[in-house]
Amino acid sequence: MGVRPMRSSDRQDVLALRLLLWPDDDGGEDPGETVLVWEQDGTVGGFLIYSLRPWAEGCERRPVPYIEGWFVREDLRRRGVGRALVSAVEDRARAAGFRELGSDAPVANRVSLAAHRRLGFEPTEKLQFFRKNLAVVEPQATVVVEPFRGSRAELLPLFEEADDSASEIRGYFELGEVYVARRGQQIVGHVQLIASGEVWEVKSVAVVESMQGQGIGATLIRKALDRAFSAGAARVVAATATADIGNLRFYQRLGFRMDRVERDVFCPDRGYPNVEADGIEVRDRVWFSIEVHGRH
Ligand SMILES: CC(C)(COP(=O)(O)OP(=O)(O)OC[C@H]1O[C@@H](n2cnc3c(N)ncnc32)[C@H](O)[C@@H]1OP(=O)(O)O)[C@@H](O)C(=O)NCCC(=O)NCCS
Repeated sequence: MGVRPMRSSDRQDVLALRLLLWPDDDGGEDPGETVLVWEQDGTVGGFLIYSLRPWAEGCERRPVPYIEGWFVREDLRRRGVGRALVSAVEDRARAAGFRELGSDAPVANRVSLAAHRRLGFEPTEKLQFFRKNLAVVEPQATVVVEPFRGSRAELLPLFEEADDSASEIRGYFELGEVYVARRGQQIVGHVQLIASGEVWEVKSVAVVESMQGQGIGATLIRKALDRAFSAGAARVVAATATADIGNLRFYQRLGFRMDRVERDVFCPDRGYPNVEADGIEVRDRVWFSIEVHGRH
């Protein structure tokens, strides 16, 4: 009973455990990896795979030994098997002159996080992995902003993206002028401007969720400002929920300044559900404005 390097007679046992950890595993062994197993009465109850990585995020030395996989059969957990496997790799790494051991765990794997910490690993960096499917070739049509002359009903989902109250939307939906952002044939965003003398209001602005974060909202606002100021507006105003930190950043980056806060605007009487944004109850509204010289 104990930890030892994997033997060829362990292959089937190890593969069965590997599939529990990595269901898509093909069992192929990487020549750069070493597999240690924990064995009891001829049966493998856990394994640890490590390799020597040329470098690893958060580690200071290169190359660095790194835990690639660590698994203990469910009925054997919390009895020190995982610890024994990690100790064995530590001993081997230390004996070979290494001063660090790297590892990783999905941030959602609380057990693994707890076990790592308990065994003396310090958390270093957090990364988000990405994947782009290169088999799908989508022409990156440019976004064009243009006046919207169709039926506003087509834009209702975008207005609803910007405002949670159907009754409020009904009150201004048909007013003023609207510009839309199009990518190819698809409308991906809108901005509605309502003039009142020299003060123009950005009443509604939204970008479809899948296209957010690409600068389309800022392009729409810039277009709205161009339109308002060239038509003689002295100020352009806009309002948003004080709770919506993203929107506060958005308007200020575009040169808007805060004017005042109106409390309890987003209340059930006006058709607003009780919701939170960024963990803050949505209740109050902040007004922003920009003058011609304030523009970025
Ligand atoms: C992570 C894993 C390998 C740990 O194996 P194990 O044999 O249960 O670990 P040990 O019994 O040696 O425990 C080591 C330490 O981790 C901590 N730990 C283990 N399981 C834990 C749990 N469920 N909750 C909180 N802490 C836990 C314990 O505090 C323990 O320290 P202690 O004995 O001083 O209290 C095992 O839970 C496992 O196979 N999980 C599924 C696969 C996996 O997530 N692998 C890691 C991928 S990154």
